[in-house]
Amino acid sequence: MTLLEAKNIKKSFGNKFNRTDVLKGIDINLNRGEFVSIMGASGSGKTTLLNVLSSIDRVTSGQIYIDGTDFTSLKDKKLADFRKNDLGFIFQDYNLLDTLTVRENIMLPLAIRNMTKNEAAGHFEKVAGELGISELANKYPGQVSGGQAQRTSAARAFIHQPKIIFADEPTGALDSKSASDLLKKLQQLNSTLETSILMVTHDATASSFSHRVIFLKDGQVYTSLTRGDMTQESYYQEILDTQRVLGGVVEDAE
Ligand SMILES: Nc1ncnc2c1ncn2[C@@H]1O[C@H](COP(=O)(O)OP(=O)(O)O)[C@@H](O)[C@H]1O
Ligand SMILES: [Mg+2]
Repeated sequence: MTLLEAKNIKKSFGNKFNRTDVLKGIDINLNRGEFVSIMGASGSGKTTLLNVLSSIDRVTSGQIYIDGTDFTSLKDKKLADFRKNDLGFIFQDYNLLDTLTVRENIMLPLAIRNMTKNEAAGHFEKVAGELGISELANKYPGQVSGGQAQRTSAARAFIHQPKIIFADEPTGALDSKSASDLLKKLQQLNSTLETSILMVTHDATASSFSHRVIFLKDGQVYTSLTRGDMTQESYYQEILDTQRVLGGVVEDAE
């Protein structure tokens, strides 16, 4: 049931003379097929946490197991392979390659696979269809809207059927209509493909699409909320209430 298990994660930056302790002992579990949000004030360590959980950055101490394997002890090459095969990423600023078409961008994660052209095309049709961007296939990122660019980026994250998708403020640059369109798609793909999603967001509306919200404060887990049988509206209200109790500057300026 547990897909990702992180134990006593610590992360510090700097050196012994000038050190910043950013993550101060975090335990997190993510179940297979679960969609979890991470919230917290600006500077509370959300991005740092996502980066170490997704193997973009290394922990200072602690273990992170995915499917039972502790990847914090893997060598760089193995870690890079693991990242390419098993993980998908969505960033706030889309991270699309401007010189590639929408289709080519989405197909990138398949480049490392032993796959026939037909198989790859099949994967593309399916995921582009789900995300409603099939007709944009031959356009370049500069020719599509922000919402379409982020759905392209989401298609790229899902195409190789990773175990987990990591998303850092995926709706941060979108208007509210494009944001909710994207979140509905993520929610839908999460439930049909059973791909787990871990999403950092400062937006209560965005996190109300997930199963569970983990709140960080000063590099530690402060509390969490599970949607359970709640309607999305009452879940949203609970998230807002928790943010209020958490205090501080909850709205990121990023
Ligand atoms: N590479 C780094 N070197 C030094 N300090 C860093 C680095 N990355 C992040 N920090 C510090 O860690 C803290 C948490 O940052 P971050 O994880 O980006 O927070 P959030 O995403 O919640 O806004 C901040 O005080 C930030 O300045
Ligand atoms: Mg951040």
